[in-house]
Amino acid sequence: MHKLKLAAILSLFLIIFSFNGKSWAQPATGTDNQTGISPQTAANYIHSVIEAGRTIYSEVIVERLGVTIDLKATENWQEQNTLPLPAQFLLLSSNTSNARDMGMKYRLMSLWPINPKNGPKTKFEKIGLENILKSPEKPFTKIVTIRGKPYFKAIYPDRAVTKACINCHNHHPKSPKKDFKMEDVMGGISIELPLNSNNVEGEDYRIPAEVVADYIHSVLESDRQVYSKHVVNRLQENNIVYASENWWEDNALLLPAQFLLNASDLILNKNIDLDFKLISSWPVNNHNGPANEFERKGLKDIVRHPVRPYIEYRNIGGKKYFQAIYPDFAVSPACVTCHNNHPNSPRRDFKLNDVMGGIVMTLPLE
Ligand code: HEC
Ligand code: HEC
Repeated sequence: MHKLKLAAILSLFLIIFSFNGKSWAQPATGTDNQTGISPQTAANYIHSVIEAGRTIYSEVIVERLGVTIDLKATENWQEQNTLPLPAQFLLLSSNTSNARDMGMKYRLMSLWPINPKNGPKTKFEKIGLENILKSPEKPFTKIVTIRGKPYFKAIYPDRAVTKACINCHNHHPKSPKKDFKMEDVMGGISIELPLNSNNVEGEDYRIPAEVVADYIHSVLESDRQVYSKHVVNRLQENNIVYASENWWEDNALLLPAQFLLNASDLILNKNIDLDFKLISSWPVNNHNGPANEFERKGLKDIVRHPVRPYIEYRNIGGKKYFQAIYPDFAVSPACVTCHNNHPNSPRRDFKLNDVMGGIVMTLPLE
């Protein structure tokens, strides 16, 4: 059901795009051709969202549940009824996002991969991985031409942040390197963004804010989908552990909404200037109601036009921002059952595939 819905949305999206070009759903107020974002900034946003998901999964799920209820993350998580490893979580999520064929691609790789599939595939990737070993303070970036089309490519370092990283890799029978130390760069996260082929020569490349928002949304959705399907639903069905609103007290899994909200808090605390949150016109938690006129209008609009996000270019405190509200669908019966029966829910007649709320994304324009 879930997959069919997504496929239907994506194909409709492609049809509409090929006929009408850009922003058919909402004529943006104050749009001009300068509303693009540099590829470097776009890649930084995407990387920070990938990192936030990875951190929440590693710390709040894997480490906490390992200590409190002895639930481990293991390589053969499916057979063993355990949690996927953090690297596997990222790989599942990147496969989900890359399969949407929306242009942006990301993956985790290394010069010393346990899984040969995660090795560098091109000369650029090899040089990039070697480069971040020498200068890990910044990503290695380049504009490359593939089959006559320009792409921005960036490789960000992936470090050994916990003892578990080095213990497992150094002792893994398939690991080609056995002497990783704490804080070592163990590999990299590569991000690839397609660029406009008819860019005026000498002018800097820009990616439309709307497209960058779609990319970020794709990472968020992929993390959430992987978390719901391979962590929450699977472990609940096998009676291993449950998702609970009071996950901290109950030593339980976070609800999928809480996973996203926690990643959002993490980004907020890092002062990256990128912001996303989950809201609804019928919130279980009052804090998640619409905060202003834009959010009220957007939530109403995405119920009527759920194919594309509601967008606006706005001035906030003298700075220019792009904002989008993406519909959040009741993709599984659990969404409907839990919200319809929750004591604090102001609405009790949600049906499968209804728009239950929206993901608000805010991107500063340079
Ligand atoms: C319990 C074992 C284990 C732990 C802990 C672990 N990894 Fe891995 N890691 C793996 C395995 C297994 C793979 C291969 C996954 C696959 O593609 O199937 C992998 C893949 C990777 C890759 C991609 C390249 C490769 O080796 O295939 C990187 C980079 C990586 N891990 C870094 C880390 C970092 C950083 C940490 C700590 C935050 C970490 N790993 C923790 C086992 C582990
Ligand atoms: C087991 C109960 C449960 C399930 C299952 C569940 N939710 Fe929620 N949802 C909640 C709770 C509780 C909150 C409030 C979380 C908070 O802010 O702490 C919430 C928050 C939300 C919000 C933000 C607005 C609000 O109500 O506070 C949206 C939108 C949302 N959920 C959509 C979904 C969708 C879509 C699904 C299915 C993919 C889903 N939920 C599954 C309980 C659930």
